[in-house]
Amino acid sequence: SDASGLSDVLLDWYDRHARVMPWRVPPEEKKAGVKPDPYRVWLSEVMLQQTTVAAVRDYFRRFTDRWPTVANLAAAEDADVMGEWAGLGYYARARNLLACARAVVRDHGGVFPATREGLLTLPGIGPYTASAIAAIAHDEAATVVDGNVERVMARLWLVEEPLPGAKAALTRLAELLTPAARPGDYAQAVMDLGATICTPRNPACGICPWRDPCRARAEGVQASLPRKLEK
Ligand code: ADE
Repeated sequence: SDASGLSDVLLDWYDRHARVMPWRVPPEEKKAGVKPDPYRVWLSEVMLQQTTVAAVRDYFRRFTDRWPTVANLAAAEDADVMGEWAGLGYYARARNLLACARAVVRDHGGVFPATREGLLTLPGIGPYTASAIAAIAHDEAATVVDGNVERVMARLWLVEEPLPGAKAALTRLAELLTPAARPGDYAQAVMDLGATICTPRNPACGICPWRDPCRARAEGVQASLPRKLEK
């Protein structure tokens, strides 16, 4: 099927099966037009780098209870933020977090830049985080590519070239599928699909919304993709 057919099918699945997470807008509020807060999207995406959703949940709640806005966080003592971060690991992320919050307040009047390009100028915000915030909070048709997305694309399009060489091709395929409408929901739908159905070892193809168009599934090789170059 074509790209818009594929993204429509996935968005329809997401409307029914999106995981409930404290940084997502609940369905009722979403229907009423409530948009995700860039601060909460940014904080969740930084915490989710190298850390699982299950581990992040409670940290995210404690951070947003204590510092509900980016200005609140920017004004926090370093030691208080490091203390709340304790246990999440990769402590450079917490230092970058504070540097970024302070840059948003100092250089942008406390408002996150509205474009991927503007977001990339902030400390600690790389291509992944910039795309995630731009798509989820600002409805920019930016493409979010993490390990989940690479795996889903490798299977959907039967990409047999191993990682990391296949990265550019998988990114290109992910970009081609990103819809102009609801790019943030689409990004999170691919992540949810990769986390709950198109899993590394035993993908649940029987209940996958992309079961029919999936080329790896047609060949029966889904569990062996993506290939990885031996380290
Ligand atoms: N992993 C990283 N960001 C995510 C998000 N917004 N939803 C689900 N899983 C994620």
